[in-house]
Amino acid sequence: MIYKELDKFNNNFLWGSASAAYQVEGAYDIDGKGLSIWDEYVKIPNKTFKNTNGNVAVDHYHRYKEDVALMKEMGLKAYRFSIAWTRIYPNGRGEVNEKGLEFYENLINELILNGIEPIVTIYHWDLPQALQDLYGGWESREIINDFKVYCETLYKRFGEKVKYWVTLNEQNVFIGLGYETALHPPGVKNLKRMMEANHIANLANAEAIKSFRKYVPNGKIGPSFAFGPNYAYTCKPEDVLAMENAEEMNCYWWLDVYLKGRYPGMAWKYMEKNGLEPTIEDGDIEILKEVKPDFIGINYYRTGTVMANPLDGLGKDGSMNKSGKKGTAKDSGIPGVYRTIKNPYLEATNWDWEIDPQGLRIGMRRISSRYDNIPILITENGLGEFDKLESGQIHDEYRIEYLREHILACKQAITDGVELLGYCTWSFTDLLSWLNGYQKRYGFVYVDRDELEEKELKRYKKDSFYWYKEVIDSNGEKL
Ligand code: BG6
Repeated sequence: MIYKELDKFNNNFLWGSASAAYQVEGAYDIDGKGLSIWDEYVKIPNKTFKNTNGNVAVDHYHRYKEDVALMKEMGLKAYRFSIAWTRIYPNGRGEVNEKGLEFYENLINELILNGIEPIVTIYHWDLPQALQDLYGGWESREIINDFKVYCETLYKRFGEKVKYWVTLNEQNVFIGLGYETALHPPGVKNLKRMMEANHIANLANAEAIKSFRKYVPNGKIGPSFAFGPNYAYTCKPEDVLAMENAEEMNCYWWLDVYLKGRYPGMAWKYMEKNGLEPTIEDGDIEILKEVKPDFIGINYYRTGTVMANPLDGLGKDGSMNKSGKKGTAKDSGIPGVYRTIKNPYLEATNWDWEIDPQGLRIGMRRISSRYDNIPILITENGLGEFDKLESGQIHDEYRIEYLREHILACKQAITDGVELLGYCTWSFTDLLSWLNGYQKRYGFVYVDRDELEEKELKRYKKDSFYWYKEVIDSNGEKL
């Protein structure tokens, strides 16, 4: 629809920004913290760009007060951050580490004191290495209870102060990259194991939401999904079918479980025919059906464009553009299901991520229609680019442009009838981009460090910082 006038954002709209523990905190072995699978994985040569790691990251652990002061100066309404499981339970289970709880308590208090709503992500990929070693992490049902105990520790300690909670960040990514393409830990390439681990993560997510109702009855909780809506490359029926296949396999395979408590029929049949379906035990379906999140978190960066792929067609070779050299990303697919292809109508970033604000609107509309208007929280959206520090300034008009267009798409989606709770940019400060080092920057605040040197980690406000301040100030009217 094209409207003459767009609806306004609600007065309590959560204008936010987000981060994740491993990407910002540093202090990887301090105050009793145990090691996570990422602390170990980055030690393997050539897994990450220039072998970068998050040992120091942007030292948010020691500088959180300075960072929160910047958030306050900007007028940020919400800050989404993740808790490192290994700070709370260094071995994933057993003794609680009080020092870890204290760190997050201080951060939460500091945010509240400054009028910023904390949004806690419980799991953003940094699984305790001890649990990986003990029973294979997400491949064992033992994790369901360990995760629940960890969640309950957080609910009991922070449930009175924190209203918004995210269970798992991008299950589709940490499971897909962990078990299909081997780009993330534990570096496995095995589809059957992927589906088993994924099912166990679904159960852990459901149990975490179930116990949330008991401990934080007035809170709101949901998972965050890496959402890349799909387009058909042409209107040729085979390409449209490929698009529907991609939606089923890449989106509904997760979203239907979260929001309908069951796997989508056609993808399930495909898995069965290929011997890939996960093991369903007694009681599994009941627990998936029993719980429903309060909202669905959406991490949106790009859409995907797909076309038909024959049975002997393109697969996934597990490569990606980690260098920022435009045009080096390769297409991939599932033979007989779909394959990706560059969208001729869209520009892409230097990391070959297509820029598509309307895709965000399209995606939100699809979710709203399929899942009874479930409230949506945009838990991530942002542009990773090279930034240049020049005489203490960073002129990132490309980021402003990107965010402006995406916020406009949110306004259009609200006008369409989507229930949108808030919008968190990725990210507040620059941070470690898992596989892409420090040169792929996302923040409103530049942190002066690179792959080679930590330098002084000094913070500089980018032009986008001042721009977002005005957006918040005008409740999204001044874009
Ligand atoms: C999301 C993650 O996948 O995208 C973030 O939740 C991540 O942790 C972000 O940083 C951007 O991805 P990347 O690979 O550019 O860092």
